[in-house]
Amino acid sequence: MSKVDVSNSPSAPPSRRFGRLGPDDADRYAAHLLRLDSADRRFRFFKDVAEFLIHLHAGAAASDGRIVAVCEEGGEVRAAGELLVDPERPDVGEVAFSVEKDWRRKGLGCALMRELIDAGARAGLARLELEILPDNQAMLTLAKRFADKIETREGHLFAAIALPAAGVTPGRASAQSPGRDRP
Ligand SMILES: CC(C)(COP(=O)(O)OP(=O)(O)OC[C@H]1O[C@@H](n2cnc3c(N)ncnc32)[C@H](O)[C@@H]1OP(=O)(O)O)[C@@H](O)C(=O)NCCC(=O)NCCS
Repeated sequence: MSKVDVSNSPSAPPSRRFGRLGPDDADRYAAHLLRLDSADRRFRFFKDVAEFLIHLHAGAAASDGRIVAVCEEGGEVRAAGELLVDPERPDVGEVAFSVEKDWRRKGLGCALMRELIDAGARAGLARLELEILPDNQAMLTLAKRFADKIETREGHLFAAIALPAAGVTPGRASAQSPGRDRP
């Protein structure tokens, strides 16, 4: 994992750090996603995906160029946020989050959202989108803190977060268009 964006607060455990996943981190990322229970996997992937699909997802996410911001503690990934650019809408980044149960309500979801907002703005994206199941109250409440608009399409909620134009870096080098896999 690249050791960028270290943002420990004074009250955070000393081993907690924020960073980005790299290709060597696929197994640790898969281990994090596999610690989600079936209800949380459904919230994260919109169905309770099988273990081998989690491994496939983690391998792709760590190596296909998408941004995977993580919070690591004790050498394990405990929370993650992915940003994937839709090749059919190259100015839009689709984001999704996962925080393990014992690490929730500590601000990690919000911290990762802020990290992806900054990354998306630096990459020149116009907005981020977040797909949410209608019964996912936790994600919906978090999303409302950031979203400009939340609408319902085909039974799912979609939150849109407009990104600031200021400080835009020309080009989209850090948020590539890595394919149609979900973030
Ligand atoms: C949704 C999720 C990412 C939130 O992560 P988190 O680290 O707990 O979020 P934060 O601590 O940053 O919470 C920020 C705010 O969101 C809201 N929130 C978070 N969890 C909530 C819950 N269970 N119920 C109601 N509001 C909640 C609160 O307003 C909270 O602020 P507060 O703690 O000061 O009251 C986490 O619950 C999760 O991973 N769920 C399973 C997977 C999932 O749903 N992914 C989203 C698919 S895109």
